[in-house]
Amino acid sequence: MSTPIIAIDGPAGSGKSTVARALAHALGWSFLDTGAMYRAVTCEALARGLDVHDHEALAQLAAHIRINTLPRVSVDGRDVEDDLRSDAVNAAVSVVAANPKVRETMVGRQREFAALQEHGTVVEGRDITTVVFPNATLKVFLTASLEERARRRDDESEHSVARRDEADYSRSASPLRQADDALVLDTTGRTIDDVVGEIIQCLKNTDS
Ligand code: CDP
Repeated sequence: MSTPIIAIDGPAGSGKSTVARALAHALGWSFLDTGAMYRAVTCEALARGLDVHDHEALAQLAAHIRINTLPRVSVDGRDVEDDLRSDAVNAAVSVVAANPKVRETMVGRQREFAALQEHGTVVEGRDITTVVFPNATLKVFLTASLEERARRRDDESEHSVARRDEADYSRSASPLRQADDALVLDTTGRTIDDVVGEIIQCLKNTDS
């Protein structure tokens, strides 16, 4: 029997990574940051001087590199964690993430990762509740005002956050959208503990 999955989606800066990590810690489950995987592919493409609009080259790259996200993000064993949030990656990641072949490879690896975990997995991204794990134990959609989201991302301008949101919502391959049966939480002005507590309560209600 497969282990439980909490799937979390939402736009940039909605609190997904922080909440998902804290939730995984509280439950003793594994955590998967799928955005880090798209960022790692982007980082590697830029390091190799590839044109991120070259769909076939990016598809080949994604299929052939090994990405680890824990304890730090690495590509073929090389630590890239400190490069993941550069302006260059912020500017190019939405293009890479809109590539259907890149997505297909990443989705396969995300499912494999969850299947190997002993207890349960908290997975966060843009298409986790809709495409990757549509039958997750619990689905959550996090939101927050653009102003607050940009404030939380102090390494990225409000303009860049808004541009990435627009690209993620409007692309044809697995666009960001709210699953019909997701628990929708607006995290504006709320603490991490408060949001994590609400999700755990909801998980308990799902169990009973
Ligand atoms: O942390 P933040 O929310 O700013 O972004 P992220 O989760 O690191 O994701 C970076 C980018 O990867 C997003 O803007 C999406 O374009 C893409 N992404 C995606 O398409 N699908 C996912 N499951 C996760 C991220």
